[in-house]
Amino acid sequence: MKTSVVILAAGKGTRMHSELPKVLHPILGQPLIQYSVAVAQSVAQSPPVLVVGHAAEKVRAAVAEAAEYVLQEPQLGTGHAVQQAETRLRGKSEYVLILYGDMPLVTAETVQKLLDVQKNHIGPISVLTLISDDPRGFGRIVRGEDGSVRAIVEEAQATPEEIAIKELNTGVFCFSADWLWDALKRVELSPKGEYYLTDLVSIAVKEGRSVRAIPATDETEMIGINTRVHLSDAAANMQQRINRAWMLAGVTLQDPATTYIEPTVQIGHDTVIAPNTHLIGSTEIGTACIIGPNTFIRDSKLGNRCEVFASVVEAALLEDDVDIGPFAHLRKGAHLAAGVHMGNFGEVKNSYLGPGTKMGHFSYLGDTTTGARVNIGAGTITCNYDGEHKHPTEIADDVFIGSDTMLVAPLKIGAGARTGAGSVVTKTVAEKTLVVGMPARAIRKLD
Ligand code: UD1
Ligand code: CA
Repeated sequence: MKTSVVILAAGKGTRMHSELPKVLHPILGQPLIQYSVAVAQSVAQSPPVLVVGHAAEKVRAAVAEAAEYVLQEPQLGTGHAVQQAETRLRGKSEYVLILYGDMPLVTAETVQKLLDVQKNHIGPISVLTLISDDPRGFGRIVRGEDGSVRAIVEEAQATPEEIAIKELNTGVFCFSADWLWDALKRVELSPKGEYYLTDLVSIAVKEGRSVRAIPATDETEMIGINTRVHLSDAAANMQQRINRAWMLAGVTLQDPATTYIEPTVQIGHDTVIAPNTHLIGSTEIGTACIIGPNTFIRDSKLGNRCEVFASVVEAALLEDDVDIGPFAHLRKGAHLAAGVHMGNFGEVKNSYLGPGTKMGHFSYLGDTTTGARVNIGAGTITCNYDGEHKHPTEIADDVFIGSDTMLVAPLKIGAGARTGAGSVVTKTVAEKTLVVGMPARAIRKLD
């Protein structure tokens, strides 16, 4: 009993007033169409068919291999949109499930329930409805005196009595496939000049067939996005849903309202997240970490028991027991080994800091490798760029870099060496040697 999913995403989204197609506006870092695609993937065996039209190429590029595509050109309404999938799907499945690409909060569980209803229904249509005091411009479900579904009327065409109906069309439908493809040909042009998918309900009723309408239990799932007000409403609900799941999995969120965790993020139990923290992209955080407040972590991996206080971490790797901040900035390729301490106003880019290395105050390390137990004094800077090329700095184990040292790369500092405060080091320093001055010269051997 195969099910195909068709996701409608060809509309312009005029009410967004945007250059970006509506379904590509992000919610927690994901284009909102991605949420419907994920639901489709979990209820059906084959990839969904995405109906694209307005800015089709951009939508295709964003969703890529996760869906198959049919083009709707011009866009003549939701019924016309579904019709475009006929040649692709006719004869291939028993049921066709319709999702609207602008409803990212609908869950796989809810859709599966509708599918199960239709599988036990002799009529050709099951539709998910919503009973609400807020009509949101949705179509109204018209029922007869016996309670059976008679029609769906769009708000623009509704009579005052119909306008008052509180049962709304969510746009999630399940159809018997063979009936759907034939019946779509009988949909007539609406007064607005569109072929409405919703007209299939009255078409079925006129044929004497029954339509099941199942009220949804969670109103927030049915937030459809037509404006940026709806977008922020949907984003807030998605944020709550994700945050709640992490709390139930053992993560403390001190202020869920200001904690933004993208759906692609992983977090270990007993980690505590303080207010105003953003966890973005492919970030993975270990157990028993303390993150935030005021922290932004993107595409980074943190081990266990790390502390990140008021800092920005991008494409970095932190091993266990690393603590950074406040006001640290880790950039692409920063790799801090176990037990590294990095205090305030530090920046590290494309560099490895060996185990136990300390970099307490106001420093920049770029294209640098340090050994274990290195001390980077306040104000140390690797001068890694000569205006044309980047050059590497290598600092061996147990080196002590004095405050305000400039390390002019390319450069190697031998194990156990020291630099005096304010040195400008332009040449390789031998191990266990103290260098001072500008340019720094060796003044004695250390034991
Ligand atoms: C639609 C329903 C309405 C329902 C509401 C729920 C119809 C006629 N109306 O209204 O009953 O309550 O959704 O959110 O179905 N689309 C296309 N091609 C088109 C037109 C639309 O692909 O030619 C896509 C849009 O990109 C969008 C979806 O279909 O993802 C819904 O279209 P939209 O214009 O937002 O319909 P609503 O007015 O919201
Ligand atoms: Ca809509």
